[in-house]
Amino acid sequence: MYKADDSRYDNGMQYERCGRSGVLLPKVSLGMWHNFGSVDPYERSREIVRFAFDHGVTHLDLANNYGPVYGSAEETLGRLMDDDLRPYRDELFISTKAGYDMWPGPYGNWGSRKYLMASLDQSLRRMHLDYVDLFYSHRYDPDTPLEEPLQALVDIVRSGKALYVGISRWPLEATRIAIDYLRRHDTPLLIYQGRLNMLDREPIDDGILQLCHQEGVGFISFSPLAQGLLTGRYLEGIPDDSRMAKAKFLRPDMLTDELMAQLRQWNDEAAAQGMSLAERALRWILEQQGVTSVLVGASSTRQLEQNLHCLA
Ligand SMILES: NC(=O)c1ccc[n+]([C@@H]2O[C@H](COP(=O)([O-])OP(=O)(O)OC[C@H]3O[C@@H](n4cnc5c(N)ncnc54)[C@H](OP(=O)(O)O)[C@@H]3O)[C@@H](O)[C@H]2O)c1
Repeated sequence: MYKADDSRYDNGMQYERCGRSGVLLPKVSLGMWHNFGSVDPYERSREIVRFAFDHGVTHLDLANNYGPVYGSAEETLGRLMDDDLRPYRDELFISTKAGYDMWPGPYGNWGSRKYLMASLDQSLRRMHLDYVDLFYSHRYDPDTPLEEPLQALVDIVRSGKALYVGISRWPLEATRIAIDYLRRHDTPLLIYQGRLNMLDREPIDDGILQLCHQEGVGFISFSPLAQGLLTGRYLEGIPDDSRMAKAKFLRPDMLTDELMAQLRQWNDEAAAQGMSLAERALRWILEQQGVTSVLVGASSTRQLEQNLHCLA
């Protein structure tokens, strides 16, 4: 039987208030997009999650379609709840999302009330949970009136199936409307999830980060290491066991000469400061005003351990 490390809150994790809310999130959170699906060895996934929790990483982020196969990362979490984490449920902040294609037909995608409600029910069954701490609209749906997903989020909180709500990848004006709508319906937007890293500064350039900061909404950065580009992973080629070699979201043609030169320069600058590139990349995000947490992925406990150095 797993027993969490007694020193999990004393070994370096820092917690940041999420916007103007009562919630504190760890500055480093763990995402389960890759490495926790049915194609991955359960014992390795288990080891990473245990390591995370033992080091104060209380926030685990999922989505209905994480795997592969779709749904299987949530099933892994469900198994972990049964095997290890149930006694610690109240110490965990678990999020899931709906917004991308999940099941066939017109009701398994985008932003309808029908989809969001049904998807959360499925997610709870897969994760063996009664409620999630945070439920996200995973993307903006340009063809559905904004009030529909927003009212669904409000009603989901009122139903007790989620404690807080968030949005991910919504454009600026829609985010402004969401903040206002949710506030007027007593369900303040807790957090915005967007891609922010040294290679992709869109949330800064388009004003989302500043809006969140002004409005008291937290911001969590996904793919903070640009899926591994902002680490030493690809500086000497493409390792066989890397995401670029295995998965479709990171392609070898992204490794242009220009990018490699930039990565090498950043790597050298980091080394001169006694840091790894990953550590520097994570520190850079955490230094931005308004950022609550970085949502890292990891295919080993060693990677997670290295990434936690950004808090030292
Ligand atoms: N809202 C959205 O639309 C959205 C989209 C994407 C992601 N997310 C969330 O963000 C989370 C993180 O995304 P991500 O996995 O792309 O994050 P990331 O931290 O940018 O990339 C993680 C990957 O980088 C490599 N890596 C990490 N640390 C390393 C280290 N110290 N040294 C060498 N390589 C290292 C590993 O890849 P290898 O497999 O090569 O080892 C790892 O799986 C996801 O799990 C998900 O929760 C949300």
